[in-house]
Amino acid sequence: MSENFNLNKQDFGENFVWGVSTAAYQIEGAHNIDGKGESIWDRFASKKGAIYNGQHGQIACDFYKDFEKDILLMKEMNISNFRFSISWTRILPDGIGQSNKKGIAFYNKVIDFCISCGITPWVTLYHWDLPQNLEDKGGWTNREILEWFKEFVTLCASSFGDRVKHWMVLNEPMVFTGAGYFLGVHAPGRKGLKNFLPAIHHATMCQAIGGNILRESVANAVIGTTFSCSQITPFSQKRKDIIAAKKADALLNRLFIEPVLGLGYPIENIKVLKRIEKYIHTDDLKNIEFDFDFIGIQNYTREVVKHSYTVPYLQAKIVKATKRKVATTLMEWEVYPPSINAMIKKYNNYKGIKKLVITENGAAFKDIVSNEKVNDPKRLSYLQNYLKEVQRAKKDGLEVSGYFVWTFTDNFEWAEGFYPRFGLVYVDFETQKRTIKSSGKWFQNFLGVNNNNSD
Ligand code: FCB
Repeated sequence: MSENFNLNKQDFGENFVWGVSTAAYQIEGAHNIDGKGESIWDRFASKKGAIYNGQHGQIACDFYKDFEKDILLMKEMNISNFRFSISWTRILPDGIGQSNKKGIAFYNKVIDFCISCGITPWVTLYHWDLPQNLEDKGGWTNREILEWFKEFVTLCASSFGDRVKHWMVLNEPMVFTGAGYFLGVHAPGRKGLKNFLPAIHHATMCQAIGGNILRESVANAVIGTTFSCSQITPFSQKRKDIIAAKKADALLNRLFIEPVLGLGYPIENIKVLKRIEKYIHTDDLKNIEFDFDFIGIQNYTREVVKHSYTVPYLQAKIVKATKRKVATTLMEWEVYPPSINAMIKKYNNYKGIKKLVITENGAAFKDIVSNEKVNDPKRLSYLQNYLKEVQRAKKDGLEVSGYFVWTFTDNFEWAEGFYPRFGLVYVDFETQKRTIKSSGKWFQNFLGVNNNNSD
């Protein structure tokens, strides 16, 4: 299907926003430099067996030291919007209390340098690196996080809000609560419903809290938050598989957006979610709503889902792409471009959403450097085919206003360490040398056609 027409930048419209996305822990390194405090990812990565090959983000892409080099490279590649996150413990080492001047100065330098290069900064407040000191007090399971988060957002807004206008409150709450507080495979490594349910509710509350603070204190702020989402296909047309797929859709795609829009948690599809009511105080469901200027959707793949008696609470399981013998990326995620189109449609169907931005999409494949070049045809075709599906959505009159590639340079991919390379730019982690991959060169040329800036 996606082969029927050519990719054409003009079809996206003049005001369409093009950019790249990153996150603090995945690129910055400098984990204990200039007064930075310990985050849950610093702690988790030091645990034996937590990360592939015992790797960690202590140095990562060395962005803290050499951010100018990467931002200049962005400029050279015609990239005019840069999404990055603020490391909470760099600016508030204990999460609350005393702030760290040097940490704030670092983000000021990054922001100012972006602006001087004609690059618009898009800031994510929380991309998973909770202060360890707050985790020791219960982290996302403790309702006090509503106060801690307020303090963090207030400091970000007052320190950077004069120049940063584009904000995202959370990155993928489903992933940091699900992987971090239910499955235990991401920081802080906690498991079970007793951790997951309060974490879900407090994260949802914080989305609105963050949004409200930004709206009150940042003039002309454009406020969003971001969600992971994947098209869900039932394994068969049997009733049981269709029900299983509905449950997976409620969990993976609807759980965090619906309360924000005033639709409540999807309890009718996931019975066990009823237990979340224990954590809901009077007025919470009202205070949880927020009128975001845009919603960021992050799509990589689709999931095929089947009924299963053995999976607790959900009775549904994902049929792995490797078992289905379909094309996959190094993450073993299916390459399935129509999924991004289906997600744009799905989110367009929510009345309360004003604008959609694809805040992440990209792929990890094995990259080989040869003669100082990296030829990555699989990533190139992945990006082009997903983008064609975004273009198709635009042609069909659906709302979608921007697209950010995950990611600029190869970086630390959480529990998978440095093995999956997602970058448009190759990083030699021994020397920190950057080499633009052929996909990056293609993106550079594509963006070079009628260069545009953010709205
Ligand atoms: C998303 C995360 C991002 C990155 C990509 C591959 O879930 O937001 O940090 O790891 O996946």
